[in-house]
Amino acid sequence: MSDLKHEFPLDKNLTYLNHAAVGVWPRRTADAVKAFAEENMRQGATDYPKWMKVERELRGRLKWLVNAQSSDDIALLKNTSEGLSIVAYGLDWQAGDNIVSTDQEFPSNRIVWESLKSKGVELRFADISGDDPEAAMLELVDEHTRLMTVSSVQFATGMRMDLKRLGECCKEKKIFFCVDAIQSLGALQFDAQAIHADAVVADAHKWLLGPEGIALFYVSPEWRDRLKLNQFGWRMVEQSGDFDALDWKPAKSAQRFEPGSLNMLGVHAFHASLSLFEEIGMHEVERRVLERADALMTQISAHADLELLTPNQPGRYAGIVTFWHKQLDHAGHAALYQRLMASRIICAHRAGGIRFAPHFYSNIEQFENVWAEII
Ligand SMILES: Cc1ncc(COP(=O)(O)O)c(C=O)c1O
Repeated sequence: MSDLKHEFPLDKNLTYLNHAAVGVWPRRTADAVKAFAEENMRQGATDYPKWMKVERELRGRLKWLVNAQSSDDIALLKNTSEGLSIVAYGLDWQAGDNIVSTDQEFPSNRIVWESLKSKGVELRFADISGDDPEAAMLELVDEHTRLMTVSSVQFATGMRMDLKRLGECCKEKKIFFCVDAIQSLGALQFDAQAIHADAVVADAHKWLLGPEGIALFYVSPEWRDRLKLNQFGWRMVEQSGDFDALDWKPAKSAQRFEPGSLNMLGVHAFHASLSLFEEIGMHEVERRVLERADALMTQISAHADLELLTPNQPGRYAGIVTFWHKQLDHAGHAALYQRLMASRIICAHRAGGIRFAPHFYSNIEQFENVWAEII
């Protein structure tokens, strides 16, 4: 295993439990960014072919991460919202079509679908607070359902969805299955093919420990050329290196969704971050993430005044652990959040409570110290 203390030289007085918002960069990522800045300062893009090699390797790493058939299934975008918009405005909607989603989605995975209302498309929200959240989603499916969209792990409660069960149903009924995987990629193992995903989107800056402004977009080979294109430029064409050609066709690969120059700084950073996941292996990363979530949940359950909001059944949670303090109202939780942040316990105020999100490298021993601020 890589030397984690070396990779994560976090400030001594900091307990960083906020990977569900913005993660920490490993040392190698910071080094890659510094080296790229230095190179740009000294020689500009003299070695551009080397940058293109990094870009190709990044696509290969992302293929591995989501278990795509080929790196041709991966596009590099700016963020999750952009990927979801490509799907929403790439499909040919008919008035009366509907989309099935949940009532716990982050706004990125709601607003874009709501924007289709002008085309007569209905967005259906399943209440997933019950015992069988997937059944609640599947009950809303009817013969007019064209797309199902869900977060692999819900941003506020941390509830993890059974993507395979949803994907199998979508496949059988020929419904487009769209997964916002931002809260699980980098924390859990993922297999886009096994869950029958048609599209998977996630930014680099949370569990994948990369920078903001770069995201991966997986599209299944079946859907790649069926999504109508709405962004155009020199890069999304088949012969993107031939600037004299007047005829063009969209690239066969998912590069067709990349209209112009890439965020090369982000490419270098993301490439470095992913090398750490490759070295450790996603099986081991997942084991360690769940071990840390378990430790926090056990500590929460030991305090009578705290109530766990994250479902703690195996398979129902990932790295997010959210809880309420029974003696506090909304304003009390907001004040508690401010106190935690002032004590350098970095977390988030979500679902009316406190959200902790440790990562595989987090020091479990530090967790015991956070409760003194809370109880
Ligand atoms: C489930 C989910 N989707 C999307 C995002 C962010 O989306 P974007 O990349 O559009 O900023 C977040 C950020 O918190 C999130 O939790």
